[in-house]
Amino acid sequence: METGWYQAAFERELSDELTATDLGPVPLVLVRTPDRIRAFDAACPHRGAHLAHGGKLDGAAIVCPFHGKRIQLGPVGRYRAREHQVLGYGGMVFVGLGEHCDNGFADLLDKLTVSHLFIPGFSLTVEMAADWVIENAFDGTHFRPVHGIGNEPSLEVVPAGLGDELTFAVRGVFLLPPSPWRRTGGKPTEVPFLAKAFSPHVVVTEIGGQFPYTAITAATPLPAGGCRIRFSVAVLADGQESLPTEQARRYYRYLLESSRAGIEQDIPIWEHLRPVEPDYDSADHTVIAFREFCAKFRTEPRCAS
Ligand code: FES
Ligand SMILES: [Fe+2]
Repeated sequence: METGWYQAAFERELSDELTATDLGPVPLVLVRTPDRIRAFDAACPHRGAHLAHGGKLDGAAIVCPFHGKRIQLGPVGRYRAREHQVLGYGGMVFVGLGEHCDNGFADLLDKLTVSHLFIPGFSLTVEMAADWVIENAFDGTHFRPVHGIGNEPSLEVVPAGLGDELTFAVRGVFLLPPSPWRRTGGKPTEVPFLAKAFSPHVVVTEIGGQFPYTAITAATPLPAGGCRIRFSVAVLADGQESLPTEQARRYYRYLLESSRAGIEQDIPIWEHLRPVEPDYDSADHTVIAFREFCAKFRTEPRCAS
């Protein structure tokens, strides 16, 4: 099991008071109350029934569907459900498992809330380990062959600040093909980016240039293997109080659709990867560093498969 931040859901997936979700092998119940979303272990502490499958929310407890005990959502009572940290921002629901969550992710989302508008995006299920999906942001040599960008961005690891050991960041510059949203006279354009992982399952990428935006990519392991990718963006709010204009809406759609197309370019590679002992070269230094970062979140040795 890995600790740290995961995206457990989009808020729109929570249609009921109790929703089942899984963070890899950890089944959770998300509880929707009028003022917030909470996350608890789903296994009933009596004998393990899944509280989201037939359980009923009753005040500050869930009535278990198996033997009808009241499983308390607070600190008092014989049977209590263990609670996990939740960050609900812009239609995204993040859950922090165990330690290793105090790494500035909540502060970043807080800051973005002030200056940006969150656009909750799309989900995709892929047959690939979640940390490989996040690793993609740090794999500088795949961008040209897989995504057709015009250069091989040489990525530089951004030194972790004090108290920042539980994040991992790189920066670089992409040479991007012309897009309808950049006035470049049809020429490729240099776009700086900064990708920062907050766990093996969440990376936030700031893309600069003429129309800067922030991409939030989460990959949440599924219990039977593979993962669920959830992708969203945050765009500068520009002080707009009112509804976005039609042009802004088209731009958000373009960002999400082009990002989805980018992920779809990765999928055939991911889904046909064979397990080999990697033979890294010097350009893979950011991948190696990301792997070392991920190891900090592992709480027990993985079984060799
Ligand atoms: S398993 Fe939940 S009350 Fe028995
Ligand atoms: Fe990629």
